[in-house]
Amino acid sequence: MQIFVTRAIPDVSLRRLAEALPDAQVTVHPGPGLLTPDELVVAARGVDALVCTLTDRIDAALLEALTPPLRVVSTFAVGHENIDLEAARRLGVRVANTPGVLTAATAEVAVALLLDAARRVSEGDRFTRAGNFERWDPLAHRGQSVYGGTVGVVGAGRIGLRVASTLRRGFDCEVLVHSRSDPRESESGPEWAELGARFVSKQDLLAASDFVSLHCPLTSETRHWIDAAALDRMPAHAILVNTSRGAVIDEAALVRALRDGGIAGAGLDVFEEEPRLASGLADLENVVLAPHIGSATHRAREAMGRLCVDAVALELAGRAAPNRLV
Ligand code: GLV
Repeated sequence: MQIFVTRAIPDVSLRRLAEALPDAQVTVHPGPGLLTPDELVVAARGVDALVCTLTDRIDAALLEALTPPLRVVSTFAVGHENIDLEAARRLGVRVANTPGVLTAATAEVAVALLLDAARRVSEGDRFTRAGNFERWDPLAHRGQSVYGGTVGVVGAGRIGLRVASTLRRGFDCEVLVHSRSDPRESESGPEWAELGARFVSKQDLLAASDFVSLHCPLTSETRHWIDAAALDRMPAHAILVNTSRGAVIDEAALVRALRDGGIAGAGLDVFEEEPRLASGLADLENVVLAPHIGSATHRAREAMGRLCVDAVALELAGRAAPNRLV
């Protein structure tokens, strides 16, 4: 049995994989650079299972080239827009991801970015480090108060719910929510109801929210969901936060809105062409930039590793992993 891992993942996950499959030969790409699609197809040729991450493109061509013997793809991520699930289904390749275990970690980063952008903390950090803090100033560094504001959550999944709950319970925010389907009909309906969340249209959410936090997956419908027209609809004091996928925002339009005062600020953990930033973005003071750290806690990454390698072991043994996508 051969398993290829495209990136170094926590040691504890690799030890767990070795314990579960003592006869398997596990090869880990040493990095730090990413494998190109051509390199990946060569490196993974002949493997039974592939452990990948969100930085690998697992498209139909790759899956066709590796199958058979490839039977399992397990991604060390919850988002899976980089994997062609239809092609995997057609080829009989099982695919698993790591849902649930990074909810709290990602929600923490969304709230951190929101607070930072609203209260201009990173901007103040740069100001202070540059030696510009000469005296307390009644007029300087004023931002938006989060307490008692209105937060619009886009996407009613686990992470959106956690962000809504934190801002409702910790900051007394009103919660608006917009998603593909009415969250009141979902399993988490009672939890949204407990927060007093109002399910609203896209246009109403954009117009009425002081803070908009994106938690939807990237699909053909959500690509550039925040475009120039959406940004125009937001009030000038609004703050936009994205911990989902960069391409949910038209980043060039966001740069213009941030530069021209269309909105007050943004907090971004993800970028449209990661790791490249849209031209002009890094020059702006009113945006907080993080290097895709939503799940980057020791606890979350170890739990992701557990789910990810357990799925490999289960699926190779012909048993359905609870986190199987197809
Ligand atoms: C992180 O962005 C993930 O999808 O796990």
